[in-house]
Amino acid sequence: MSTHIGAEPGQIAPVVLFPGDPLRAKWIAEQFLEDVECYSEVRGMYGYTGTWQGTPISVQGSGIGQPSLAIYVNELFRDYDVRSIIRVGSCGALNEKVAVRDIVIASGACTDSAMNRITFEGLDYAPVADFGLLRAAADAAPTVSDQPVHVGLIYSCDSFYASRPELMMRMVEYGVLAVEMEASALYTLAAKHGRRALAVCTVSDHVVTGEETSAQERQETFDAMVEIALKAAVS
Ligand code: ADE
Repeated sequence: MSTHIGAEPGQIAPVVLFPGDPLRAKWIAEQFLEDVECYSEVRGMYGYTGTWQGTPISVQGSGIGQPSLAIYVNELFRDYDVRSIIRVGSCGALNEKVAVRDIVIASGACTDSAMNRITFEGLDYAPVADFGLLRAAADAAPTVSDQPVHVGLIYSCDSFYASRPELMMRMVEYGVLAVEMEASALYTLAAKHGRRALAVCTVSDHVVTGEETSAQERQETFDAMVEIALKAAVS
């Protein structure tokens, strides 16, 4: 096993779906995969492997925020030779063109995190999605759901309760669609390891209007997002 994942080599599939919430990982495995085995319960950050339409797929919780996510991404790439990671999570809409329940596929992820700043010694690296996964997810989306789908930039913020919300809104002036807390580090680490990554998010709340989805709506849009991610995973 690696430091934070209790799997033996070979127990994790080459493609991993990656929700923040470990109980969502359990739910995805139970609802979507066949022949499921739980390979890790370390720190309650569950990981499962099963098959989807005959293809091996794993689902691993990442926790909230880039420092937590980066622990699992580093170990999945380095210790388990994972080739592709697709984040499935929620985001907050920042822009009037994006509504709650919509789906956002992140072509790139801006950030206020110091993680990249330290790595690049003050230079600004532009973390982007793998184009093949991005195209496959965008193609799959209309076959899965009628929900509007947006492809564009998101903002991976270190603070859920931002102390300077006006800085977040400056991102909107430059075309950023939504805020979440993980994708930027995922994209940067995928580039470092020469692997593929994508983030597909459902809009759970609107930061400007304050609108939120109901639990039922969250579940329905979550299902559509997982199916889009699975179709991209096997493309
Ligand atoms: N994830 C879902 N909604 C969010 C928000 N408003 N801010 C940061 N991450 C989120």
